[in-house]
Formats: sequence, structure tokens, C-alpha cells
Amino acid sequence: MNSSTAQASSKNRIVVRAEDVWKSYDDGAIEVLKGANFEAAEGQTVALCGPSGCGKSTLLHLFGGLDSPDRGRVSVNGMEINRHSDLLRLLRHEVGFVFQLHNLIPDLTLEENCLIPTVAAGIDRRTAQARLRQLTGRTGLTHRLGHRIQKLSGGERQRTALCRALMNKPKILLADEPTGSLDESASAAVFELLLDIVATEGATLVMATHDRSLAERCDRLLEMHSGRIHEPEYAR
Ligand SMILES: Nc1ncnc2c1ncn2[C@@H]1O[C@H](COP(=O)(O)OP(=O)(O)OP(=O)(O)O)[C@@H](O)[C@H]1O
Ligand SMILES: [Mg+2]
Repeated sequence: MNSSTAQASSKNRIVVRAEDVWKSYDDGAIEVLKGANFEAAEGQTVALCGPSGCGKSTLLHLFGGLDSPDRGRVSVNGMEINRHSDLLRLLRHEVGFVFQLHNLIPDLTLEENCLIPTVAAGIDRRTAQARLRQLTGRTGLTHRLGHRIQKLSGGERQRTALCRALMNKPKILLADEPTGSLDESASAAVFELLLDIVATEGATLVMATHDRSLAERCDRLLEMHSGRIHEPEYAR
């Protein structure tokens, strides 16, 4: 595609969209996004690649409503995120976020960390516990439920972060280097799990990754450079 618009090839409904998005930091001294366009259709898995510092996390943070663009529009599930008055509801119920650095609370247990988003969303404890057991069963973490995060291995933390992001059955999962700190085989295992869960739950995945072999397993692979997003010819 010659244009900087990386359009979803599927005819499905677009659930994550950026239109001519600009974002800089430090009063404009660090220009990161410079007219970025992005679309992900419902149920798609989309990988966002590009060199360190190109703006992958910045874009995911905008999709997750954690920051707002300087210019342009960001919408998730048809709602413009920077204008929507009910942003919290959207985030609690419709979007799950796996952070690049996990952002788990080290002094709390795996179970306590995962239950936090369900409390925020007003989900009753019984339903939340059942969901947690389903997810820890799938991720092989049931025996670690009562363990504090600080006692877990890197891979266990990564899987915990995945469970927490999925607790409220989000329609959209934003995953920022979800296998970033793992070795090759652990990374492949977590990624398989991620794809499997996303497929069974019919969720849309937008994932930032440095790992080409993982990116190529997604429905679409996009590249970010010079503040814009491109769909490389070989990935079409
Ligand atoms: N809060 C902030 N304040 C100032 N600069 C920031 C801030 N957040 C990010 N940046 C800068 O913006 C640029 C893009 O950062 P970002 O984290 O989006 O990159 P990335 O593509 O996710 O990189 P990586 O692959 O290393 O995770 C970098 O130059 C970074 O230093
Ligand atoms: Mg990043």
C-alpha cells in the first residue's frame, strides 16, 4: 500500500481506529505520531512492529484511553475515545490492556491483582472467581493463585498480566510486547495461549511486538516509522 493508511482488508466492522493522529511529548520537542492512521476490524489480530521508540506504546496508550492525541481522532468500538464521556465504562468492559512492564502490584497476590478490574467493573465476586479459575486453568497458573507477584517468574508474571487483562471478557485486547521479557520458547507458549484465547472469545487483538515471527502469525502486520503506519508489501 503506498498511502500511509493501513486499512483493514476485512469487510468486518472496524473496532479500533486512528485517523490522522498526532502526538508529541515535552511541549512538542519529541514528535512521535505524525498523522498516523490505523484500523482493526472485529475479530482480527493485528501486529504493530517498528524500531524501539517509534511510538508503538504511545499509540496503544491512546487506544486504551490512557492518554489523548494532540490532533486527530481515536475511536474504539465506534466511540471516539477523547470525546466520550463514558470512557471509564468503555475501558472497564470493552478493552483489556497488557502493559509492556506488566504494571502488576508486587505485594498483592496473583488472585488479588486479577480481581482488581472486576471490582472496578462491578462484577460480582462469584462470577469473577469463576472467570479467574477459567483463565488460570488455561494459562497454567492455578497453583500460583495465592502467591505474591514478587515471587513469580517472568513468564508467570506475563501470563498473570494476560489473565488480568482478560478478566472482564474484553472485546478488544491491547497487548504491548506481551511476551517481551521471555525467552524464545516461553514467548512462543504465551503467544499461542494469547491467540487461542482471543480466537475462542472472538476478541480483537492489537499487539505491539519486536518479534517478527510472532507478528507474522497475526492476520495483519503493520509497521510504524516516521510517526506513521504502513502495511509492508510482503505482509499483504
Ligand atoms: N511520557 C513521555 N514523556 C516524554 N517522552 C515520552 C513519553 N512517553 C514516550 N516518550 C517518547 O516517545 C517516543 C515513543 O515512545 P514509545 O514508548 O511509544 O515507543 P515504542 O515504539 O513503544 O518503543 P519500545 O519498542 O522501546 O517499547 C520515545 O522517544 C519515548 O522516549
Ligand atoms: Mg513500547
